[in-house]
Amino acid sequence: MIKKTLTLIAALAAALTATAQVKVSVHETAKDQPVIPAEIYGQFSEHLGKCIYEGIWVGKDSSIPNVNGYRTDVLEAFKALKVPVLRWPGGCFGDEYHWMDGIGPQENRKKLVNNNWGSTVEDNSFGTHEFLNLCEMLGIEPYISGNVGSGTVEELAKWVEYMTAKEGSMAELRAKNGRKEPWKVKYLGVGNESWGCGGDMTADYYSDVYKRYALYARNYSGNRLYKVACGASDYDYNWTKVMMQNARTKMDALSLHYYTCKGWTGSKGSATQFTTEEYYNVLAKTCEIEEVLKNHFAIMDAYDPDKKVALILDEWGTWFDVEPGTNPGWLFQQNTMRDAMVAALNLNIFQKHTDRLKMANIAQIVNVLQAMVLTDGEKMVLTPTYHVFRMFNVHQNATYVPADYTTGNIVSAEGRIMDDFSACVSRDAAGKLHVSLANPYLDKPVTVELAFDSLKPKTVTGEILKADKINAYNEFGKAPAVAPAAFTGAKATGKGVKLTLPAASVIVLEIQ
Ligand code: AHR
Repeated sequence: MIKKTLTLIAALAAALTATAQVKVSVHETAKDQPVIPAEIYGQFSEHLGKCIYEGIWVGKDSSIPNVNGYRTDVLEAFKALKVPVLRWPGGCFGDEYHWMDGIGPQENRKKLVNNNWGSTVEDNSFGTHEFLNLCEMLGIEPYISGNVGSGTVEELAKWVEYMTAKEGSMAELRAKNGRKEPWKVKYLGVGNESWGCGGDMTADYYSDVYKRYALYARNYSGNRLYKVACGASDYDYNWTKVMMQNARTKMDALSLHYYTCKGWTGSKGSATQFTTEEYYNVLAKTCEIEEVLKNHFAIMDAYDPDKKVALILDEWGTWFDVEPGTNPGWLFQQNTMRDAMVAALNLNIFQKHTDRLKMANIAQIVNVLQAMVLTDGEKMVLTPTYHVFRMFNVHQNATYVPADYTTGNIVSAEGRIMDDFSACVSRDAAGKLHVSLANPYLDKPVTVELAFDSLKPKTVTGEILKADKINAYNEFGKAPAVAPAAFTGAKATGKGVKLTLPAASVIVLEIQ
């Protein structure tokens, strides 16, 4: 009864403050604005379920069309996405991964029981060479997640040497394995979730461990590592405080993980079957990330007012129950228009905070959690989340343009309050403005008026993502139920731009 009353109050509150019309004042003349790092559109790939095997790597002898073992359809999808950075090999897997098992002739590689993810036995056929060659081929910055939980300092030090040194015995071993020139490796994560699957450590203890491992991860042959210390999960502000207190001068960045998940015990809810109430619960939980980020930033500001240490959100996204009938350890979930909305709201939030937030890696790129791409044998679909990442990638390396607007609130049944409208503006190198907009309401369109400091827009083009049903998703072997379409509903008015965002839609405009 109490819950019902609260729900009613929540619905009433939402109705009372609903945005039906919003005026966005775009300050395109503002000077000295930050560049949105492309890395905000980062991805994460783990040896988990079908992410690497089948999802990316099928091997040269596969009947699935491939380029040197990488499946062709997925490579093409990654190219269009403009993946800026890819984290690998985990996740929890990373702290049980021993890189030496994944080099040398494929037939000699050790077989590995993946203790974290379904006890699947894998053959290590995708290792350092396969990962770094993939990155090189696609112009992706690799982000290596080093083993601190079960690996030694020497092992991590030698891995860095193997990947990046021009000379010495590690370079010779690499050359013997077919790669003479070192790769360029920028990002090095020193442990993952060291408070949990990565070693179950306290913040105090890990801060010392971090310094020890980081010290021996050297810069070779002109390669400059950017070292990322393991950070907190969600609301663990103490971890951030201790790490900043004890180790801030030894790191380039501190990480953070925030999943849009109902809880860590019991059902997390279905990815495709959900009520209206559950839809808003998920959206409000995902938007709470802004408050969580601000709280971590405030702690970092206290120790590092000049913002020398970045925050890197190297795992984020939705986490639902696995699809019925699939391996519970493989975290394979479908991806609906709700996930697309989650992606749009998050990306718009992240882009407002890039003075401290320098990278974000959605979990994960293929077949795991909020994936870009799903595969079923030789079949592949692009998910609604993929489309948002592709539509929004015009913001990568563009200059942030401040914009003011007033929103109403949506109050979820769980009592969280979120903005009921979202927008972000940037200007690319060619001077074009891009505006990404999201209307989370399931049942209300919103009319938007964009006003500019001085610009008189001449042309407006756009793309829209919406679906007939909010739980629509793209099924293998069927015509896509969620795909972007040209949006012709935005009009240049002489003074600005006017458009109506349909309910539950995401739009990106290009304005000149
Ligand atoms: O992304 C799945 C898992 O979530 C990662 O392996 C781990 O870091 C996190 O708990």
